[in-house]
Amino acid sequence: MREYKIAAIPADGIGPEVIEAGRAVLSALSERRGDLRFTFTQFDWGSDWYKKHGKMMPDDGLDQLRDFDAIYFGAVGAPDVPDHITLWGLRLPICQGFDQYANVRPTRIIPGITSPLRGVGVGDLDWVIVRENSEGEYSGHGGRAHRGLPEEVGTETAIFTRVGVTRIMRYAFKMAQSRPRKLLTVVTKSNAQRHGMVMWDEIAAEVSQEFPDVTWDKMLVDAMTVRMVKNPKSLDTIVATNLHADILSDLAGALSGSLGVAPTGNIDPERRFPSMFEPIHGSAFDITGKGIANPVATFWTAAQMLEHLGEASAAASLMRAVDRVCEEGILTPDVGGKATTREVTDAVVSAISGSN
Ligand code: NAI
Ligand code: MG
Repeated sequence: MREYKIAAIPADGIGPEVIEAGRAVLSALSERRGDLRFTFTQFDWGSDWYKKHGKMMPDDGLDQLRDFDAIYFGAVGAPDVPDHITLWGLRLPICQGFDQYANVRPTRIIPGITSPLRGVGVGDLDWVIVRENSEGEYSGHGGRAHRGLPEEVGTETAIFTRVGVTRIMRYAFKMAQSRPRKLLTVVTKSNAQRHGMVMWDEIAAEVSQEFPDVTWDKMLVDAMTVRMVKNPKSLDTIVATNLHADILSDLAGALSGSLGVAPTGNIDPERRFPSMFEPIHGSAFDITGKGIANPVATFWTAAQMLEHLGEASAAASLMRAVDRVCEEGILTPDVGGKATTREVTDAVVSAISGSN
């Protein structure tokens, strides 16, 4: 029996709804297989905690998380707390404190879910976006001066280091190498941003030498949006900076049918710290409490978590169950169905329980 200690941080809005669904599905998987078990410890950090304590998590939050095998995270964001506080108070300190420098965002068209792209179906769009997750535009460097005066300035400095770019590039080339097409697209804006972005291109060329079997090309980020929409089949693995990949992966999520199905893993490839798995979407307060949040992204990220833990066959059976339920048309309203979160979850649980 392999046992995994999982820290669950449901946090805000629909986060608790989808994490509860995810826990149910993981428990069903563990029961069905009998060879692995999850023990969950739930943390009530987030915006409610902030309203009581003036911070999103306790000062020793990272220490409390350090010894878990993985973190299963919902979403942050509340209508009455500024977004930069919720984001910088919980999610980013975990990503940065645990040096989860690779943010991995798979996208594909799930059977039964319709892409907004005409004529694009299952198999036509199957990507993994690798996002640099520790520096770049979200390094937190910058400042404000002369606040409120006409001459006020604000700066937001992007930081690119040789170490940071090399390690994400190596991770992305490895990811591309592990996939059947062995195809990597390196995204930058190295025409307009002529320092850090040119260094990206140079380091990509250097690292590519280590991966002679991977075919790679370069795209400017603006042209990349066009290629994703017009020629999705031409792409497979994609690597981009923190900001660029943040935007491109929202587009990828939308092209695959809904943000509600898009998962992400914040990975420490060196496994010094726990990695964190979460749906890409936010707290979605427009649908909070209605019981209609799509749990598929949270199921898919559970599969990413299983893969990271070395449980590839459990991950595959979870995704087979999700595919089967979606194909049967048991879908939440964001992907054109009428089912509730509970109904989708129950259907995935039965698909797992009835599988072999
Ligand atoms: P959002 O992702 O929460 O919602 C965008 C739209 O997608 C909404 O119409 C929502 O109802 C829908 N949606 C999202 N997830 C869904 C799901 N699972 N099922 C069905 N529909 C779903 O983004 P929004 O509205 O821009 O931000 C809301 C809050 O979430 C903000 O406070 C924002 O800062 C925060 N946020 C947090 C993130 C995180 O924790 N990683 C990521 C993105 C936003
Ligand atoms: Mg985003």
